[in-house]
Amino acid sequence: MLVLGIETSCDETAVGIVEDRFHLRANVIASQVELHAPYGGVVPEVAARAHLDALLPTVDTALVQAGGGLTDIDAIAVTAGPGLVGALLVGVSAAKGLALAHDLPLLGVNHLRAHVEVAQLEHGELAPPLVALVVSGGHTSIVVMDDDGVFRELGGTIDDAAGEAFDKIARYLGLPFPGGPEIDRLAREGDREAFHFPRALLNDGTYRLSLSGLKTAVIRELRRLEAAGQEVVLADVAASFQEAIVDVQVVKTLRAAAEQGLDQVVLAGGVAANSRLRERFAAETEANGQRLLVPSIPLCTDNGAMVAASGANLLAVGRTSGLGLAVDPNLPLAG
Ligand code: KG4
Ligand code: ZN
Repeated sequence: MLVLGIETSCDETAVGIVEDRFHLRANVIASQVELHAPYGGVVPEVAARAHLDALLPTVDTALVQAGGGLTDIDAIAVTAGPGLVGALLVGVSAAKGLALAHDLPLLGVNHLRAHVEVAQLEHGELAPPLVALVVSGGHTSIVVMDDDGVFRELGGTIDDAAGEAFDKIARYLGLPFPGGPEIDRLAREGDREAFHFPRALLNDGTYRLSLSGLKTAVIRELRRLEAAGQEVVLADVAASFQEAIVDVQVVKTLRAAAEQGLDQVVLAGGVAANSRLRERFAAETEANGQRLLVPSIPLCTDNGAMVAASGANLLAVGRTSGLGLAVDPNLPLAG
């Protein structure tokens, strides 16, 4: 069974092909980063138009990579939400066209669940119950996948998403877009202890996170240093900021795992590509005797393979979507 997955929810036009739910056959990404970089963020109209140009050539490249053609494909999966409405519409319309023309089942995929389920391509079938931290440009949530595979949200950010905080601070530091990988790189040369930035809600007894105060604290500290005429070591700021953001995610996620009695932890989403987040989770889950499942970096950031994997799971239980599939820019992770 070959499932082709289409991802156009944000700024990557991506197509993946997965065989029999667990085997990656193709993963092709046409990135729009350079188009959006001059604006310092993703421009929705620019994204939708670029998806339109790139999508069908990306499908073709993925088919070549998998060594076949559309006639070999058994189902078409596509991200139906959450994401930018215009961008989602390009992918869903194209997926409907392909499904109709080739008489194939259509599978509407939840982008956030797909970030979690992609772990099955490298770690084999997920064996819930497990806890997952889903951290991306638009989302920061701690969720449980129960025995029956159903997702339940324990908590999440009450203001900025983790990726958003990385991108905003990077912009303030004059780093290019997207800022997460830039901060990650710069932080390697910095001192994590140089500044002590706040860890909001760390011990509030909930699974909520708040990151906007951290962002304000970093900006205020930079202004104070500048006003005092002191030299600012950007690598130290990056390392200390990153440590604060990583700290709250590690502490809250592993506390959730302990309190819910779960010994498997999945890291998911673009921010899961962060080297310090991966390092801290690896060390602490090992010390606790927990199993950590973290996708390789190309499968953390947006990709088509995750959509194909999640779609293959839907196909396996007969949950196909009709051609009436609608996009939902606010599709929740749980429910
Ligand atoms: O999942 P994703 O590719 O797209 C969304 O669904 O949002 O996540 C993109 C986010 C961006 O905010 C980007 O800066 C962040 O992931 N990101 C990182 C790293 N790589 C990507 N953040 C921190 N460290 C990284 N290495
Ligand atoms: Zn994503």
